[in-house]
Order: sequence, then structure tokens, then C-alpha cells
Amino acid sequence: MLAAKSWVHASFRAGRRWLRPARSAEPTAATGRAATPGIVPIRALSAAHRERVRGHLLALGAADRVLRFGWRASDAQVEAYVDRLDFVRDQLFGIFNRRLDLIALAHLALAPRGPSGQPGDSADLGLSVLPHARGRGYGGRLFARAAMQARNTGVGRLAIQALGRNAAMLRIARRAGATVQRSGPDAEAWLNLPPATLDSRIRLWRAAQLGETDYRLKRDAKRLRDWIARLQEAWAVRPDVRGGGRVAGG
Ligand SMILES: CC(C)(COP(=O)(O)OP(=O)(O)OC[C@H]1O[C@@H](n2cnc3c(N)ncnc32)[C@H](O)[C@@H]1OP(=O)(O)O)[C@@H](O)C(=O)NCCC(=O)NCCS
Repeated sequence: MLAAKSWVHASFRAGRRWLRPARSAEPTAATGRAATPGIVPIRALSAAHRERVRGHLLALGAADRVLRFGWRASDAQVEAYVDRLDFVRDQLFGIFNRRLDLIALAHLALAPRGPSGQPGDSADLGLSVLPHARGRGYGGRLFARAAMQARNTGVGRLAIQALGRNAAMLRIARRAGATVQRSGPDAEAWLNLPPATLDSRIRLWRAAQLGETDYRLKRDAKRLRDWIARLQEAWAVRPDVRGGGRVAGG
């Protein structure tokens, strides 16, 4: 059993190694500046992930909800926000840990389309990272991914509304090249995005594939771990299984 378990971990690690390109500094989508080395797979979310998004946002404490939404959102208000999320018009991305908990979330709210169906010129971005996962660069990477997505969707300006005291968010925005304007306790950051190119489309496609593959590997590894745990449980509680039938049979 132990051998099977270590095989799962070894395969999982091997998969991650295979997925991880050589430690390269990928240029960020919007600025072309080098980001921190190392790749963090980010997955696009669909309506199938609504409950995970709900769990993630409800896990934010009162102070974080003020930073994220601009007011002290109650559980009921967070629930209503999640219920209203439009996964077709907007774009949501997430970072999952190996237990498939959604530890970081980006919501790119695209402006309504114009009369001829072309995408609006701007988009609003909201980010959240669970407290235990902060400071690892996830917020910055989600920002870069959202900017890359917005750029390839034809959006020209990315807007971030934040409180002026939200030092971490404003640092992420500034690092990506955004202009920050303060107005009383509030701040607004704007990032102008260049038009999409073949290169930006290929990089977005690669990032999407990486996020998808990483998620599937984690999901399969989790299923295997759960299966092994169930087997171990049965092994522990059922003498007939433990004794290969000999105990039960005498
Ligand atoms: C803002 C938030 C998403 C950042 O997530 P994160 O994963 O910790 O972000 P990163 O690790 O990518 O980077 C944070 C940056 O801010 C810096 N930072 C963190 N706290 C800081 C502080 N109090 N003062 C100054 N800089 C700070 C970090 O050093 C880091 O900068 P560096 O990469 O140059 O070292 C996270 O704190 C969060 O979820 N907050 C609550 C919700 C929120 O505020 N959302 C934003 C409004 S939409």
C-alpha cells in the first residue's frame, strides 16, 4: 500500500516536472517585463466551478471582504454576488492546490459588448488569494493572466478599483505597469493594453493548456489518493479483507 502511495506521489511530481518549462522568466502579457521565474498553472473557470468560487469568497474574512468588494459584504451578499456571476460574458480564473481547493481567484468583468457585438473597450479586475497562500506571487500571476486574457479579447484598458490602503494590490498593479490614481480613501489603477498579436495569442493558448493539464493531473491524483484511502480504511476495519478471507473462513 505504501508503495502504491509513493508511486502516486512520484508520478505526480514527475508530471509537474514535465509540465514545468526550464526556469524561464516569462514576459508579462501587458508590459513585456520579466515576471518572477517559475510557472504557476492557472485554470479558466466555468459555471461548473460556481460552488468552489462561493467557498473561496466565503472563506475571506471581514477585513479581506472590505478590500475585495469595497464594503463589509455579509455572507448573504457574497452568495448573491456568486449567484449573479456570468461565466459566459466574464472571465474567471483560479489557482488550485493539490486538494483542488480554489486558493486564488481572478474575476475579469468585461464591459458590455457594443451594438455590433464587438467586445467593450475596458474590463474590471477583482482578485483574491486566501490568506495562507499570500506572498507567493499568486496575486501577481493572476493579474498577468487576466491582462493577457483581456488583451487577447480586444480590451484596451484594464481597471482595478482598490482602497488606497491596499498596499499589496497597488503594488501588483504598479509592477504590471498600471497608473494609479488616488481619490480620498479610494484608488483606481488603469493598465493600457496593447493590441493582441500572434505571439500573445500563442502565449495565452499555452497558459490555458498548462492550467487545464495541471488541473486534470491534480484531479486524477486526488481520485487515486481518495481511492487508496478508502482501500486502507476497508483494510483496517474488515478482518476478512485483511486476512485475505482466511480470518473469516477460519
Ligand atoms: C491583494 C492580494 C490579491 C495579493 O495576493 P498575493 O498572492 O499575496 O500577491 P503577490 O504575492 O503576487 O504580491 C503581493 C505584493 O505586494 C507586496 N505586499 C504585500 N503586503 C504588502 C504591504 N502591506 N505593503 C507593501 N507591499 C505589500 C508583496 O511584497 C508583493 O510584492 P513583491 O512581489 O514586489 O514582493 C491578496 O492580498 C488578497 O486577496 N487580498 C484581499 C482581497 C483584495 O485586496 N483584493 C484586491 C482588490 S480587487
